[in-house]
Amino acid sequence: MRRLGLFLTGLALLASGCKREADKMQGFDAIIPLPVHVEEGRGNFDLMPGAGVMANDSSLNFEANWLRSFLKSGDANATTQIWLEIKDLHDSLGDEGYVLEVSGEGVHISARSAAGVFYGIQSLRQLLPTEVEKDGLLGPARIPQGRIIDKPRFQWRGLLLDCCRHFMEKDFVLRYIDLLAMQKMNRFHWHLTEDQGWRIEIKKYPLLTEVGAWRTEADGSRYGGFYTQDEIREVVAYAAQRHIEVIPEIEMPGHSVAALAAYPELSCTGGPFAVETNWGVFKDIYCAGNEKVFEFMEAVLSEVTELFPSQYIHVGGDEAPRYRWENCGKCQARMKAEGLKEEAQLQTYFIARVSEFLEAKGKKIIGWDEILEGGLMEGATVQSWRGMEGAVEAVSHGHDAIVSPTSHAYFDYPVRSIDVEKVYSFNPVPEGIGADLEHRILGGECNMWSERAPQHLVDQKLYPRILAMAEVFWTPLHRKDYGAFSARLQNFYPRLDALGVDYGPEQEAVRIRNVIDGRMRVIAEIIPGQKGTELHYSLVDTEGSTLLEGSTADRIRIAIGRDALLSVDARLKAGATVEKLDRSYSIHRALGIAPSYKQPFSQNYPAAGNMALADGVHGSLHFRDGNWQGFEGIDMDVSFDLGEMDSIRYVGASFHQSAPSWIFMPQRVEISLISEGGRIVAFNYAENKTNHPDKNDQIETIYLKTRGVKARVVRV
Ligand code: ACM
Ligand code: ZN
Repeated sequence: MRRLGLFLTGLALLASGCKREADKMQGFDAIIPLPVHVEEGRGNFDLMPGAGVMANDSSLNFEANWLRSFLKSGDANATTQIWLEIKDLHDSLGDEGYVLEVSGEGVHISARSAAGVFYGIQSLRQLLPTEVEKDGLLGPARIPQGRIIDKPRFQWRGLLLDCCRHFMEKDFVLRYIDLLAMQKMNRFHWHLTEDQGWRIEIKKYPLLTEVGAWRTEADGSRYGGFYTQDEIREVVAYAAQRHIEVIPEIEMPGHSVAALAAYPELSCTGGPFAVETNWGVFKDIYCAGNEKVFEFMEAVLSEVTELFPSQYIHVGGDEAPRYRWENCGKCQARMKAEGLKEEAQLQTYFIARVSEFLEAKGKKIIGWDEILEGGLMEGATVQSWRGMEGAVEAVSHGHDAIVSPTSHAYFDYPVRSIDVEKVYSFNPVPEGIGADLEHRILGGECNMWSERAPQHLVDQKLYPRILAMAEVFWTPLHRKDYGAFSARLQNFYPRLDALGVDYGPEQEAVRIRNVIDGRMRVIAEIIPGQKGTELHYSLVDTEGSTLLEGSTADRIRIAIGRDALLSVDARLKAGATVEKLDRSYSIHRALGIAPSYKQPFSQNYPAAGNMALADGVHGSLHFRDGNWQGFEGIDMDVSFDLGEMDSIRYVGASFHQSAPSWIFMPQRVEISLISEGGRIVAFNYAENKTNHPDKNDQIETIYLKTRGVKARVVRV
């Protein structure tokens, strides 16, 4: 009897270059984001160490000092070589536009406002050698003569930092303000409250930080932190000097478990609650029927509006399950009293009440696109994240929108799903809105959620993708060109090195493509990502013997003819591993047999498509590894026709669950072997007993074992 096994990797239900001369790259066309208009002159200008910086207006004191400090010029009596000027330039340059002129005499940066001058300085910065970033200007710097006329495409160019799932130190936040400023970005969206931690000191409700800022991890350790009001004022002022507005986000009515842990009386059930340690969406939210909740919100927002001079306050509004409201007497009484028919309208009631309060304080509100669901109050701005539909709907109803869709702007996602080129291809103006509504798209944000990115990983997630997005937000469409951007990006890395930015890869550092070669062999093609990636690989069989190992910078094909583990380390730069893949292979009887699907797999989770379940590769604990196939809202029902009767010893099928990501095991799995005549000759089933709702990633394998029963079709 041949030793035969069949292994399926299945997934349960889902709810929801151009080359340029090196010296050219020191020129105007090296700047990121690419300026609107560049005129190259003839000749160069030598900026001297200690060059004087002169400003024509006291509103430019910060800008002048910033530049002196950047150049480390120091000497107040030195010859002036840089002039900063507030000037009555053409209206079309707007408040953020600038003109930068380099002549034989020196550098003139002029603008209608200090912000424009600041951006002109950031462009000048990129004309200077990268060493200046660290040491200041130590020797003469030769810069080309010419002129830049520049202004942003969008007024809203933001970054969201989720400082809740993982806390980010105040100094780290300040560092990001500096990085944003270099890229001419002007909004810092500070995500300050979450299920997993409340991070802003509120004097009237001290337990928010005494209790809500700290969580007890599974290993018993305490994790957390918060910003005092003094620290917040410091960040806001630091950002304002750099022309960055800080928008606080206070989440409501969902994502509020940390606040409920501190004040359980604000919930529908009364609790008790613990600050969440898992990631996901949680049932317990603020009670919309309880007046105390609105008193609380108003007190919190009163302190928030005192701390943040921003025009906008972000009130969240996303991912608020209505389950508790459906079952809460107070919430139901509120609905009755207000004549509300469904809980979605109760969410609108909640957000509208808070908006009115904020409007009375002269603020505007922003909410995630869910705030559209029960009807939207006038004046609210929508942040579209579940695609661009929220933006389309918002602007068509006369609202402003900010875009940060999961498809292009979620930088917590791996570069495998969103690489630099994809980010660069993003157009914040959605298709299908009229030219008359384009102005309602204020701009966009990069969203840096931190479930899987504690502070030390944030650089790798954001860079270099955020540079591509900075250009998306700034540079006019007709000037965008990915090849040219990519060349500028290569040129930019030494500057990031000088700044100590621990950037990650531009694209998936390594990819494995599996090709089935005949009946009993898989060819794993290992494909390196960007240039400079070195792959270290090994193939180890189930007895632990190394079948193969080596390293390469090119793509390589490895033949796998028996059960084995393929490990690949992709290294960049100074040898640091940027991606490590472990793939376990089973060489089985159904290898290469395309299954027939009674119901289609989800187009959102196709894995390798029709052959994904028969390519010999097991899925790993990471559900986004490209090997798990998803079925959404329907049963999976697949059959493999072996083409002839053959004896089968066992069948195995693996399933993945990651409940916080709404990926669940099937409730029941049945495996049958069917004879040529259509008779079931072996059968096994398993009921789901792995339904730990809060656990992040788990895999369960279901077997049908036989003594070598003969069958032709395997059905799962
Ligand atoms: C979001 O990602 N829940 C806005
Ligand atoms: Zn309630």
